Amino acid sequence: MDAPTVPHRAAGPTHAAEVLGNWAAARGPLHRKLADAIRAAIERGELPVGTRLPAERSFATHVSVSRSTVFSAWEQLKREGWLESRRGSGTWVRLPDARRGISGGVDSMESLRGIFRAGASDPVDFTTGQLEGTAAIPRMLAEVASDPRTAALLGTQHMLPQGAEELRSAVAARFATAGVPTAPEQVLITSGYQQAIWLVASLFIRPGDTVVVEDPTSLGALDVFRAVGSRMRGVQVDDSGLVVEELAQLMSSVRPQLVSLTPTFHNPTGSVLPGLHRRRIARLARQLDVPVVEDLTHADIGFEEIPPPIAHYDRDAPVISVGSMSKLYWSGLRIGWVRASEQLIARLGRLKTVTDLGTPLLSQLVSARLLVDHDEVRRHRVEQVHARMLRLIANLEQILPDWEWTMPRGGVALWARLPAGDAAEYAQLALRHGVVLLPGPLLSANEGHRDRLRLCYHLPPEKIDAGVDLLARAWLAYRRRYD
Ligand SMILES: Cc1ncc(COP(=O)(O)O)c(C=O)c1O
Repeated sequence: MDAPTVPHRAAGPTHAAEVLGNWAAARGPLHRKLADAIRAAIERGELPVGTRLPAERSFATHVSVSRSTVFSAWEQLKREGWLESRRGSGTWVRLPDARRGISGGVDSMESLRGIFRAGASDPVDFTTGQLEGTAAIPRMLAEVASDPRTAALLGTQHMLPQGAEELRSAVAARFATAGVPTAPEQVLITSGYQQAIWLVASLFIRPGDTVVVEDPTSLGALDVFRAVGSRMRGVQVDDSGLVVEELAQLMSSVRPQLVSLTPTFHNPTGSVLPGLHRRRIARLARQLDVPVVEDLTHADIGFEEIPPPIAHYDRDAPVISVGSMSKLYWSGLRIGWVRASEQLIARLGRLKTVTDLGTPLLSQLVSARLLVDHDEVRRHRVEQVHARMLRLIANLEQILPDWEWTMPRGGVALWARLPAGDAAEYAQLALRHGVVLLPGPLLSANEGHRDRLRLCYHLPPEKIDAGVDLLARAWLAYRRRYD
């Protein structure tokens, strides 16, 4: 048999296991269910053609089954033409002859959705940090609808790739309040943080270029940096944000094309980078001419005072600040922004035109009004999220007292450490108990943090209670298997 003509891409064992979703929930023998799940993941494009699967033993451990179950499942798929293997080269994904020409590639965000598609019941989902929309949204929608300016707007041709003037001004005013004087021309409105980071990455990075990221970091950032073909270098994160010495050393020695940071309520650790470190990073960015993009998406969901954004500390440094309506208001608005120099915003705006010609205007008008109500909404949101965090922690302390974490200073996630075992294996087992978890390796450029789980605590209180119960049951089953 010929080796595949597409390039090999190795699927990490955690990724390969995650894309299978809640595969064990169906009926029938384990090896057949596993084969069905792998086939379905290939058909969805989540295991693209040419992907090399992990070694049999490692895969078996990650999906929490015996090696002989994996062997039988893979043999079945080889007979059907979905997998191919060669001694010394491993096992990789192919398509049966009849299916050639249909393929695709997706990212870890998409893999998570795969988990839900494959799930049999209604799981408790600790993986996403998306909060319900604030009550202010319907009110602002009604205001926008009855505003005569909206009717006037509908009568015009509206192509505003850089965003509506009203919203750009409102965002600029918020930066000014945070200690970063900003003109509306320095703001580009985007479809959320996700499009913003995509635009920034596409502008600065060519395949093979180096991006420095925190380790761990957010899924969305990892997906984008992988998609543009960058090489990622991770910097450790500790209780006071990233290890700045390590970052400084990397910036000077590697001269990356981009540095991507989450200085305020880092996701997933909830840590805050002190002002002194921010100043140092801004200065380094200017001296070395290395662009730094800071994700301020969680900056409003804080339980304490915070230093200003990195952009505050050096006006001439190439610092790009990204924000979003998603945490404070609602991610369904799909409104985010980039703040940078006017020249860079113009370049990003041209790039945005290639992707969508502009973010939906009605969502922008609602957002501009929402930002006016900022303090009131923020107070309410922070109270709500803080109460939920305390509830999760109280539950964990009572039911899983040997799990550890550092108290988040803001944001929506708890970075929990398991006292033993492997988080990816445990997450597989937890799925079968009806709870969806994000294991540490999925948030790491090098699949590190095998003992960590990200638990988002935005869930309604009763879901948190039920979720921790399920976690404990799954934990008991997991420990029993290995003790
Ligand atoms: C750190 C971080 N930044 C950004 C986002 C996504 O933001 P948006 O909804 O604006 O694309 C998320 C996920 O919700 C996140 O965790």
